[in-house]
This record gives sequence, C-alpha cells and structure tokens, in this order.
Amino acid sequence: MGEPDSGSWGDGPAMRTTGIDSMREALEQAWASRERQMGGLEGIQNRALRLFYGPGEVSPSDPLSAWAIDGYGSTLWVTEWEGGKLSAAMSDLQQATEHVYRPRGYSGAVVLRRPRQGVPEKPQMLWGSEPAEAFTVVEGTGAQAMTFEIRLLSSRHPGLFLDHQPLRHWLAHSGLLQGKKVLNTFAYTGSLSVASWKGGARSVTTLDLSRPIIRWAECNAEWNQIPRDATRFIVGDFFDQIPRLVKKGESFDLVISDPPSFSRGLKRTFSTQKDLLDLHELLLSVLRPGGLLVTSINSANVSWEKYEREVHQAAARVGRPLNPIQKIEQPLSFPSHPANPKSRYLKGFIFSS
Ligand SMILES: C[S@@+](CC[C@H](N)C(=O)[O-])C[C@H]1O[C@@H](n2cnc3c(N)ncnc32)[C@H](O)[C@@H]1O
Repeated sequence: MGEPDSGSWGDGPAMRTTGIDSMREALEQAWASRERQMGGLEGIQNRALRLFYGPGEVSPSDPLSAWAIDGYGSTLWVTEWEGGKLSAAMSDLQQATEHVYRPRGYSGAVVLRRPRQGVPEKPQMLWGSEPAEAFTVVEGTGAQAMTFEIRLLSSRHPGLFLDHQPLRHWLAHSGLLQGKKVLNTFAYTGSLSVASWKGGARSVTTLDLSRPIIRWAECNAEWNQIPRDATRFIVGDFFDQIPRLVKKGESFDLVISDPPSFSRGLKRTFSTQKDLLDLHELLLSVLRPGGLLVTSINSANVSWEKYEREVHQAAARVGRPLNPIQKIEQPLSFPSHPANPKSRYLKGFIFSS
C-alpha cells in the first residue's frame, strides 16, 4: 500500500516548529484513541500499528501533518513527507517521541524522509538502540496469526503496509477463500498472499516486478510455513505476465491487485489516473467465472466514482459483470481530516463475478 501523494506542509508561517508540548499532546491523544478503538494495546511491541497519522490527525497547517509514526515491534518508524525541510522540527520530534513512547516499551526510532518526488533518503536512527537488521511482527491471533519480516535500516520501507490490515483480516477470516487458487499481483512482500493462505487458500501465486522484493515474499511464506508446493513466485511485469498466464490456460478463483499510483515497468509505464481500464481487463482475463476480484489503489487524486466506473467498464468490455461485496477503506489508525482530502487516499473493492 501507500501513502498520500504529498503532505500538506507549506512555506510561510506554517513552517514554524510546533512546540514540544503540543507535539507530545497530539501523540498522546493519538495513542489514547487507538487504545480505545482496539480495547487496549497490550503486546503491541510484538506487533505493528500506525501510532500517529499526521495528515489525518491534525489540521493541514500543523507541522505534524507532515509526519507519520508507526510501531514495528519495539522500534518506531517515523516518516516525514517533505524530505529534509524539517530539520528544526526534527529535534523537537525526537524529544517528543522519546518522551511519549519510551515509557510504553519502545526502545528506538528510525526516521525516513520522503521528498515530494523521487527516492526517499536512507533511513537513519532518530534516537535509541538500533533494531536487528531483520525481525518479525505478528498480526492477528490464533490459527489465523500471520508473521511478517520487517527491515527498518536496510530498506526504504519496513515491508508491511499497515493500511491494509483490514484487507488482510478479511482475507484471513471471510471464509470465502477455502480451497481457492489465488493470484496476488503487485504483491510486494506478499502480505496479502500470507493472509490468503491463512484464510484457507489451496495455493497462492505471488507476482511482483522486483526480484529482491519477491525474495522477501519468499521469507514471509517460510515464516508462515506455507508449503512450497502451495506457493509460486513470479518476478515480472504485470502487463507481460498476465497475458502469459492466460496463454498457458491458467485461471484463478481469487485475483488481487494493489498497484502503485505510478510505475515504470519493463515495457510500459502505468498510472492509476489513466490505466485502470486496461488493468482490470487483464485482471478479469485470469479470473474464473464466479471468482472473486480484490482491487485496491492508493491514489487520493482518483475519485471513488471514477475508480468504480472504470472497473465496471472493464467488466462490460469483457462481458463479465461484477457484483460488489464490500469496499476496502483505511483502518481507524489512518483517520482522515476534513480539511485534507489527500488524507483519505486508500480505496478498493471486493467483487464477485
Ligand atoms: C503498493 S505495493 C503493493 C503492496 C502489497 N499489496 C501489500 O499489501 O503489501 C506495489 C508493488 O507493485 C510492484 N510493481 C510496480 N509496478 C509493477 C509492474 N508493472 N508489474 C508488477 N509489479 C509491479 C512494486 O514492486 C511494489 O512491490
């Protein structure tokens, strides 16, 4: 999954640093609201959760709107969306986060600065002790508990998108995946593949453009003891690989799609602004009649209406009408702010065909 295309940090008066006290207060409030929503946060240091989501939690004029704080195990992962503009606020943020989270069992914080465009900087320690290069967190409980490998200092992203927790829960618990053959495209580290397996899938194929990312997905499959003969990993471009699968006569009971807003593949570029029709036509070409389609995007600038319309247009083109089962939305730990429409960026649908 992803994040808003940009933060809401402007030049001028809004550049003033928020006082440490008001930062602490905002972080305390966010903690308290999650505690209420989840009925307590015991054991959170073995889990992963967005602890503070600036764009949705404070007004766009507040400097904290450019920050997000996640807990991965006992380390915080702090994201800043403006790429180094906030050096002054950084020392305040260091003090505020240490004050709020150290007593709650967090032992260090890693910060990642993301420029408006281009590649994020290398993650750096903000305070405390360095986490292991790779460690695991658990999501869910009982037989459906999922284990995910997290890498904070050696990667530009920890490896687990926290905004897709509700979708992972649905896949693991809906009861609709029993014995199903699943294809997870734009799969990243395969968290939705793991969730599908936990939901009773018979086999899961995991497809992503990046070889190192697919290696990471293989680690996640191993952590969750998915038998080798029930998993398949494909490194390749969605737009090459789907026609290849169709040519081989393959089809799936559940197809999952979660592309980035923009990608440069091997032969073509893709954007959710202009390519949703092509994308969904291809997805439907590998979906068995009667199968399920899970489609999600991370694009604040594509409306729900345009998204839904283009999915139905693609379905009409291939003569495979779709019936909505439910919407995919951000979890409560990613609230949206009425003055910042970009804070509600995640959209998605589950359809039956
Ligand atoms: C938003 S992430 C997917 C997150 C994933 N669904 C999850 O919940 O963990 C998008 C992924 O799409 C992959 N990707 C981008 N362009 C691609 C393409 N043309 N073909 C296949 N994968 C692509 C990227 O490597 C990245 O891992």
